[in-house]
Amino acid sequence: MIRWHCHELFQRLPPGTPAGGIAVIIDVLRASTTMITALAHGADRVVPVADVEEARRRAAAFVPTAVLGGERRGLRIPGFDLGNSPLEYTRNRMAGRTVVITTTNGTAALHACRGAREIVIGALVNRTAVAAAVRRLAGASDDVHLVCAGTDGVVSAEDVLAAGAILDAALAASRDDACDEAATEAVAFFRRVAAQADAPAAFVAEFRRSPGGANLVELGMEADLPAAAALDTLEVVPRLEPASGSLI
Ligand code: MLT
Repeated sequence: MIRWHCHELFQRLPPGTPAGGIAVIIDVLRASTTMITALAHGADRVVPVADVEEARRRAAAFVPTAVLGGERRGLRIPGFDLGNSPLEYTRNRMAGRTVVITTTNGTAALHACRGAREIVIGALVNRTAVAAAVRRLAGASDDVHLVCAGTDGVVSAEDVLAAGAILDAALAASRDDACDEAATEAVAFFRRVAAQADAPAAFVAEFRRSPGGANLVELGMEADLPAAAALDTLEVVPRLEPASGSLI
């Protein structure tokens, strides 16, 4: 039996969580969506790092295949090759490359979960694939933590929606799973939005109301919203390889 836990903000993880369990890191706008896209478009690996200087150092070790990506305040970091828009991580740019990426909330959420037995990356674009991968990793019984990155310490609706979307796919495949209260609420939230007549537009409308979404609109990166709202367009589930610190 899988016991699902939803954490709306990684900063509020109870001490010791998610030690020993499985952590699904969710930052729909945009770190998760971008990392999944990079691997789906042919990157060899994605190396998530917490700060800008470390990103530069790690990238130097991967010359000539390194691509430096990420953001601060939503914008490309000076001297970096790419920002944090999934639309930048095209097949042409990704084939055979190592992406070293640092973002404000997404990579921080990942680093906060280092004690987990397994870490995978989830978003709306790969939610069914994540649900299946987690079930394979969990085996007969396990605790699975859906860990939302939020935006600068504020809960982001898009992350909670993705947690609910992953659960919606997972629960369709099993009757035995248990959900904590936040997980139950997340799946109900997702189902309410997904049931609207124009579901893709309803997802984007939720994004616009969230701090991360509103910030992207203000920065002129509105096109990232529908890209991140697409459901089940990618099959890749990035998984942390502890020895190398890379997502593969
Ligand atoms: C983050 O990790 O803080 C986000 O992905 C920010 C962004 O949208 O670029």
